[in-house]
Amino acid sequence: MPSISVATIVPARRVRGRLTVPGDKSISHRYAILAALAQGRSTITNFAPGADCRSTLACLRGLGVDVRDEAAGTVSVMGRGPDGLRSPESTLDAGNSGTTIRLLAGVLAAQAFSTTIAGDASLSRRPMRRVIEPLTQMGARFESVDGHPPLTIHGGILRGINYAPPVPSAQVKSAVLLAGLRASGTTSVTESSQTRDHTERALTAFGGRVAVTGPTVAVEGGQEFAGRALLVPGDFSSAAFWMVAAAAMPGSRVAIEHVGLNPTRFALLGVLRRFGARVDVTEETVDAGEPRGTVTVAYDHTRTLAIAPDEVPALIDELPAIAALAAVHGEVVVRGAAELRVKESDRIAVLVAGFRALGVDADERPDGFIVHGSGSPPRGGVADARGDHRMAMAFAVAALAARQPSTVEGADAVVISYPGFFQMLHQLTR
Ligand code: S3P
Repeated sequence: MPSISVATIVPARRVRGRLTVPGDKSISHRYAILAALAQGRSTITNFAPGADCRSTLACLRGLGVDVRDEAAGTVSVMGRGPDGLRSPESTLDAGNSGTTIRLLAGVLAAQAFSTTIAGDASLSRRPMRRVIEPLTQMGARFESVDGHPPLTIHGGILRGINYAPPVPSAQVKSAVLLAGLRASGTTSVTESSQTRDHTERALTAFGGRVAVTGPTVAVEGGQEFAGRALLVPGDFSSAAFWMVAAAAMPGSRVAIEHVGLNPTRFALLGVLRRFGARVDVTEETVDAGEPRGTVTVAYDHTRTLAIAPDEVPALIDELPAIAALAAVHGEVVVRGAAELRVKESDRIAVLVAGFRALGVDADERPDGFIVHGSGSPPRGGVADARGDHRMAMAFAVAALAARQPSTVEGADAVVISYPGFFQMLHQLTR
């Protein structure tokens, strides 16, 4: 996603406020896809407003699904049933979204037609063998550009498999489970480290049957679902940037309402406590199996922080934000996170380059990074997000603590997950 838009970040002493964040991206993708495969209408409220989930909706429309935007933030999907998708007339466009292409690969592996899905320059560099491999074992055929998109999926009659992904990935787990819904027998995925379980919870919410036994998730083929009304919680990974800003800047306090609190996603709360912040969770409720509540984070003190390899899967999207914790004080050391190199950008290289450009002391490792606060505010500078939404937001948060105004290049990438990010930044720092 090449972009020229820039954002100016004016230094701020602290962040303060009570807010909500946009609907969760991971959950929105799953609700839209399962709604398309269900019988009857689903309405999804607080659907993620970013471009990634729009890509999923556009692909579903290309597969013949009637998807409508209702009142602000609500999307209605007329389900076509398990065998109702239609062969698309042209290539589907997943845009920047890895979740779209990988989850739909699982769905399309079981269809009686062939589909090509392409994406933008960033997505075209991302590895797809991780889904091609298990879905081929199940009976689908694939064409790709050396394991990268565009991906052509020749769907077929699938058989269930027991799969242990070499790299923990919720997208891979979800692709295999979605294919398993149309495969013969049982399909199971056993993970070496727990990844986000939104697919499992969403399947249950739609009336599907999912068996979870320790690290193994299993589905039977031939299941049918009914459309329903769903409410998407706020995106914890978007909220993470404000939580980090509050934890890092003296005098800060933010309260984020209706934010998703799925235990496979909220590991950052413990990390912030370890770093020295005060963290409270109140007003907890559950919708469609997904907990949500109000998270309050206040600055207290700062310490050094080491993220161990076994913590990485539960923090994978929060690591760019976590890096910003140490822009001024403390230290953050991340290991075992080589997966960051195959995200929307090479998040290790781009993060370290951007932090250094802002005057923050940062070092690259093959599988992680070290950020070291010098104890005084960095000078500020010009950091390039390289088209990656989470890089743009991490740089903006780090730049708040700088001595001088900074520039984030490629700032419009925030439309992928958090279109109103810079407006909220302005509000919280006023
Ligand atoms: C996601 C899973 C994670 C995450 C991504 C969203 C999902 O990717 O980084 O932003 O919605 O399943 P991996 O499955 O590649 O770890």
